[in-house]
Amino acid sequence: MRFLRDFNFKDKRVLVRVDFNVPLGDDGRVDEKEDWRLEAALPTIRYLLGQKAKIILLAHLGRPGGKIVESLRLNPVAQRLEELLGQPVVKLDDCLGGQVKERLKNIQAGEIFLLENLRFQAGEKNNQSDFAQQLAKLGEVYVNDAFGAAHRGHASIVGLPQYLPSCAGLLLEKEIKALSKILLQPVHPLVVIIGGVKISTKIKVIKNFLKQADDLLLGGALANTVIRAKGLAIGKSVVEEEVVDEVKKLELTDTKLHIPVDVVASINAQGQAPSRIMPVGQTEEKEMILDIGPDTIQLFNRIISQAKMVVWNGPMGVFEVAKFASGSRAVAQAVAQSPAFSVVGGGDTITLLEQLNLTNKIGHISTGGGAMLKFLAGEKLPGLEALE
Ligand code: 3PG
Ligand code: MG
Repeated sequence: MRFLRDFNFKDKRVLVRVDFNVPLGDDGRVDEKEDWRLEAALPTIRYLLGQKAKIILLAHLGRPGGKIVESLRLNPVAQRLEELLGQPVVKLDDCLGGQVKERLKNIQAGEIFLLENLRFQAGEKNNQSDFAQQLAKLGEVYVNDAFGAAHRGHASIVGLPQYLPSCAGLLLEKEIKALSKILLQPVHPLVVIIGGVKISTKIKVIKNFLKQADDLLLGGALANTVIRAKGLAIGKSVVEEEVVDEVKKLELTDTKLHIPVDVVASINAQGQAPSRIMPVGQTEEKEMILDIGPDTIQLFNRIISQAKMVVWNGPMGVFEVAKFASGSRAVAQAVAQSPAFSVVGGGDTITLLEQLNLTNKIGHISTGGGAMLKFLAGEKLPGLEALE
């Protein structure tokens, strides 16, 4: 794999794939607590500016499904990026076509352009070669700095490097270095905490982590599917019925695997009804599990405090609602206080750390959610392979 230092970028048109997939606020803007993916790309952008490159940024936002979705235009992203950089970012309303070519024809060294959401084009997700080739024609060098999207085999990630001299950006390099520390030189006990909603996307990494980690702590809605697979009641909790059978194939009695021993449940997920704490399995028909309970917090705290390395992705409950935030907050505090080398990734998890002002207590904040988990579980990431 080649890196920025291996190239001379002076006066070169450089296509930089970044991961600017950030949540937009109700006002349609990028909040300063949610702009960490933009901040993480600044070192590469600044390096290229220093090298007098002509910078063309490529990014996606959300999942528009190959067509234009007005609310997923990258304008607010460009605006926030301008604020962070203190220099203009020219946002184009398309990523291909005559107009784009025309606008880029006279791009000057030190200028920054941001093309429109790549996922407005079906060719991006389907990795269509003609789409990748047309993008490639816009630049002379390709830099991948989109670690958060490195697990996607999309045109701008795996297609472009086929057509242009390519290298990893500073963020990609930093992520690989930090995460390799855990993958290649794990220090035990290695504790992995996985939360969030969808277990379907995480079953494979859970399987892999059951081999590598000393303890695997599960919380959040994804634990509901495991609780259900164990034959325990979950009431009306969020669950992925379609993968219950697959989850049953996991070693559910593995002593490394910890699911909540108690939970906080309520009939209303927005916090507008009373909630109660109960042992796992005693959720009534109308109730939903919305957080881990205090005994689970204690158990998880004890395990985390003994760790030498910690990996965390995904909240333990509906942390956006104060009533159901205790589990996620407690885990955040425990990870922050632990002397272990910690790696935390995933949008919600980082937002939570930002809210609690704990980001500076974490060994490495990864801009990847799924990408981080896959990398750490030893899976090959298409985006990284494409740069080899
Ligand atoms: C992410 O937010 O995880 C990455 O930007 C990839 O987005 P995706 O999950 O929609 O492919
Ligand atoms: Mg910020």
